[in-house]
Amino acid sequence: MRRPSQQAARPTELFPISADWPDGALRLSGIPAAELADRFGTPLYVYDTDTIEQAASDIRTGLGAGYPDSSVAYASKALSAPWLYRLLHRAGLHFDVVSGGEVASATAGGVPTENIAYHGNYKSATEIAEAVGIGIGRIVIDHVDEIPAVSTAAQRVGVVQDVWLRLNPTVFAGGHPKIRTALVSSKFGLSISTGVAEEAVIACTQSRNVRLVGYHFHLGSQIADASPFASAVQTTLDFASRMVERHHVEPREITVGGGFPVRYSPADPASDSKALAHQIASLFQAAATAHELRPHLRVEPGRAIVARAGVALYRVGSTKRAGGRTVIAVDGGIGDNPRPALYGARYRPVAVHERPGERPIRVDIVGRYCEEGDVLARGVSIGPLRSGDLVAFPVSGAYQLSMASNYNGVPRPAVVVVDRGQAILVRRRETPADMLNCEIPVTLPSESVA
Ligand code: LLP
Repeated sequence: MRRPSQQAARPTELFPISADWPDGALRLSGIPAAELADRFGTPLYVYDTDTIEQAASDIRTGLGAGYPDSSVAYASKALSAPWLYRLLHRAGLHFDVVSGGEVASATAGGVPTENIAYHGNYKSATEIAEAVGIGIGRIVIDHVDEIPAVSTAAQRVGVVQDVWLRLNPTVFAGGHPKIRTALVSSKFGLSISTGVAEEAVIACTQSRNVRLVGYHFHLGSQIADASPFASAVQTTLDFASRMVERHHVEPREITVGGGFPVRYSPADPASDSKALAHQIASLFQAAATAHELRPHLRVEPGRAIVARAGVALYRVGSTKRAGGRTVIAVDGGIGDNPRPALYGARYRPVAVHERPGERPIRVDIVGRYCEEGDVLARGVSIGPLRSGDLVAFPVSGAYQLSMASNYNGVPRPAVVVVDRGQAILVRRRETPADMLNCEIPVTLPSESVA
């Protein structure tokens, strides 16, 4: 039998483009990962700017080649941080947000508010008023009741607010049931087939301080090919044409959502964002021509922009044999990466230092949190790892830190950006004092009785 060598198993295509392994030790942008871990501590999230810029440019180029009047917005929910907004704003991207917190982070990163679209299936009256008040570019209407709320807020500050309607074109797409967002039963959007979307168009035409400038849909995440987009674009443009005829509403902009897939393991199919963007743009071009419409086209990927750029570094604690398996505990887990527990996501971790001649073993890498389900990677071939060794999880840039928690009272990790050979700390490690910040020291009435 051929002995699997660590060298052959190294999944370079999952790591940032600046990664290399001189002498079998991982470096990111020329900096040894071990040096980053020693300097900034672990768990540590490291982001590579070259990979982010490349991903953004691929999608822009692919899209523009198929439909020149187009743009890319970054879906902030994948990772929201001022340094990232600044980088992507410089790269010419727009942004979508779903909360006042993401707006604050975007503006802290220097993004002009007119470049932001505000989404979400729940927006409070306060959030709507704040968004309108700071001149947010577009508000994406998810429910007919939001239209008078936006109109009232806009009237108060004397503006006309541009809005899109989030349509539900009813298309089955997305890699996991929890990330499919355009089914008949979905909580998102205005259904075209039930007539609710048309009611929203009428409500917009009757609201003085709201201007309906376009439509939006988002089908889901990890969409493997362009066919769901083709069907949703067709349904949306059919609807848009009917709205031109019936209500004289011309769609100036159409956003077809995100969902560009990434690979988390070598077993996943190869993905090519540039090619997918080009296919989407081309099918949009054909459909728009057939409908005699010329709207601006936008896509809004999140994961495909940042996932591959991020590497999570953990330090190994103990190793155990349990029920026939080898269990390796690391210093992070469900608190900084809930994806394996939530979606059954599978990762392909590697040892930061390869030891030549040692044969990888099959292990479960578990987190430090008090949940039996806190397993970061099950049945992976790695190592052998000893206490104090470092493990790198590639493709950790999206939906990990943005979904991180303080479960078990564990502070969230630090974040370092590697850029042109330099390591910059962009988010310091949380401390227990940070976690106590919002707690108010009180004496409860029952405590003062005795
Ligand atoms: N636009 C809208 C309106 C969205 O809701 C989303 C993602 C995107 C764009 C970006 O989708 P992407 O290109 O990243 O696939 N936490 C899950 C993913 C949830 C995605 C929610 N919406 C995960 O970790 O897989």
